[in-house]
Amino acid sequence: MLITPRQENLNKIVILNPKGGCGKSTLATNLAACYAVRGETPAVMDYDPQGSTMAWLDRRAADLPAIHGIAAFKKTMQATRSWQLRVPNNTSTLLIDSPASIDHDDLRELTRDSTSILVPVLPSSMDIHAASRCIADLLLVAKVDRRDRKLAVVANRTRKRTKSFAKLMRFLDSLGIPIIAVLRDSQNFVRSAEQGLGVCEMPPSKVKPDVEQIERIVRWLDDWPDRKRDSTSTTAVNKRPGVARTLLNRVQFGSV
Ligand SMILES: Nc1ncnc2c1ncn2[C@@H]1O[C@H](COP(=O)(O)OP(=O)(O)OP(=O)(O)O)[C@@H](O)[C@H]1O
Ligand SMILES: [Mg+2]
Repeated sequence: MLITPRQENLNKIVILNPKGGCGKSTLATNLAACYAVRGETPAVMDYDPQGSTMAWLDRRAADLPAIHGIAAFKKTMQATRSWQLRVPNNTSTLLIDSPASIDHDDLRELTRDSTSILVPVLPSSMDIHAASRCIADLLLVAKVDRRDRKLAVVANRTRKRTKSFAKLMRFLDSLGIPIIAVLRDSQNFVRSAEQGLGVCEMPPSKVKPDVEQIERIVRWLDDWPDRKRDSTSTTAVNKRPGVARTLLNRVQFGSV
């Protein structure tokens, strides 16, 4: 079972989707770089045994804006686990990169006390089906309350609007879950990752459309206190069991 830190006033951003390769680590590292560049020292917590985010941090030059890394996937003796996972006191933003497959208990623990949950989705029908399943689990298993408006999708590696992508849009629309950014398929993400950089730290003329989308995500994330405050006026799907059950059926019977 995973353990995540409990800390007052922490902006805890969770990036998850059990589908491998959808862009979780890419999103975690690019967002961390963005927060670092604007002057705060964010923390990234890597729960994935592959350790991609920690490896990215190791490649990052020491003179770049600082990011605090926590290798949560490394097992230590239980007595020292909370010490291992501690977030420095002055940290205001924590980004969590999650592993490719997590059970229901871990899903609940990862998302507990989160301010925002981002689900990156690739535009293939298999990926879209997996993402729909993941969203259904977030609403029904992790009991993410839609009134908190903390859940959003990031479409990743898009080339063109496919039929399955349109289906995903309709599905999310019916749930009131926003797609807050659309990242294009670009070698800029691959090259920056190789150097321990975020696209926002690459030469601006080459990365403008990519940085614009990452900044859109940061603006949405920054808005979390307002989202939470406004949320009481919206209708919650998971407070209406009939709707929640229909959602699960649609995912199970492949109509999404
Ligand atoms: N928008 C993009 N354009 C081009 N390549 C991308 C893009 N997003 C991610 N990639 C590449 O796709 C691969 C998988 O991305 P990433 O490692 O971020 O996925 P992940 O969800 O963290 O995977 P895993 O589930 O294995 O942890 C990486 O090589 C990454 O550089
Ligand atoms: Mg990863």
